[in-house]
Amino acid sequence: MNFRSHVLGCGGYLPERIVTNDEIAKTLDTSDAWIVQRTGIRQRHIAADGELTSDLAVKAAERALTAARLEGGDIDLLVLATATPDNTFPATATKVQARIGMTGGAAFDVHAVCTGFIYALAVADNFLKCGQARRALVIGAETFSRILDWTDRGTCVLFGDGAGALVLEAKATNGHAGAGSGSNMEGGVLSTHLHSDGGNYGILYVDGGPSLNGHVGHLRMEGKEVFRLAVERLAAVVDEALAANGLIAADIDWLVPHQANKRIIDSMGRRLGLPAEKVVMTIDHHANTSAASVPLALAEATADGRIKPGQLVLVEAMGGGVTWGAGLVRW
Ligand code: UT7
Repeated sequence: MNFRSHVLGCGGYLPERIVTNDEIAKTLDTSDAWIVQRTGIRQRHIAADGELTSDLAVKAAERALTAARLEGGDIDLLVLATATPDNTFPATATKVQARIGMTGGAAFDVHAVCTGFIYALAVADNFLKCGQARRALVIGAETFSRILDWTDRGTCVLFGDGAGALVLEAKATNGHAGAGSGSNMEGGVLSTHLHSDGGNYGILYVDGGPSLNGHVGHLRMEGKEVFRLAVERLAAVVDEALAANGLIAADIDWLVPHQANKRIIDSMGRRLGLPAEKVVMTIDHHANTSAASVPLALAEATADGRIKPGQLVLVEAMGGGVTWGAGLVRW
């Protein structure tokens, strides 16, 4: 029997504390005007002292489970995308597993930085399609505030903390599973497309690590080069996803992109010929939350009724590694 991964629900969580651009500008040589004009960011949420990535992940997971009318015990696969785990080991996913009452199955972390959610979605989708799991929680959760150099205006204004989660369930499909086969009108994840290019490892990285120097380290980025690559690579992977399913840009109901920079998102929307109303933009109120940004945007656009059952949703992201990817989901 062939299976497809259907979305049962999603949820998001942002920490209570909001830090505006003006607040950052009190201690750093920057301004609200510069940040808004160059990035579209107006504020970010920052985790409280002692509030960990796992705490954000649990809250998002519980909201996604409620939306799916399920409990932790109904889940047999938990894939958590994060670049800011609670501990070097074990996987933060296992802590989340225990706290949501998931008593069996498997839980593990996936690390692809800002592309993490797309990677986690692809991993979970493949487990469900091959029958190795039945119901999956896919989570993106980050506390990037802990790895920022708060004296570096080129990076610290760009990021925030948060978590988003999606519940997937394997359902028998009428056609064949996999991109390009079966009906693209049938619900579920149509396909995912992942890429990495380790040759660009050094343009976006953290200058610490357990093996490197025993420190947590700070995020370092060549912003202009990351921007250039993002525009180029995201365009290519979106074309790849559409072609694999025999679809065209006009078929897309919603573009739900990684929220790194409004100018990158606008350029992708223009390239696809999508009006701004079809592009879910959340960067203004929570900045770049890395692996959490796509599921946070999905949670917001489903909760407010924009994304409806049967609609075609395109997700995409690009991040450190460099990594990039896209997925098409019939909601
Ligand atoms: O999610 C992972 C993927 N990450 C991304 O996709 C991020 C991609 N990159 C970007 O979004 C943009 O490159 C940035 C927002 C990081 C920077 O924007 P930019 O238009 O590329 O600016 P820039 O780096 O070329 O800097 C222009 C000027 C510089 O000053 P000078 O040399 O022209 O005098 C910077 O020092 O802006 C200055 N600058 C700032 N000024 C005020 C850099 N950061 C700031 C700041 N406030 N926060």
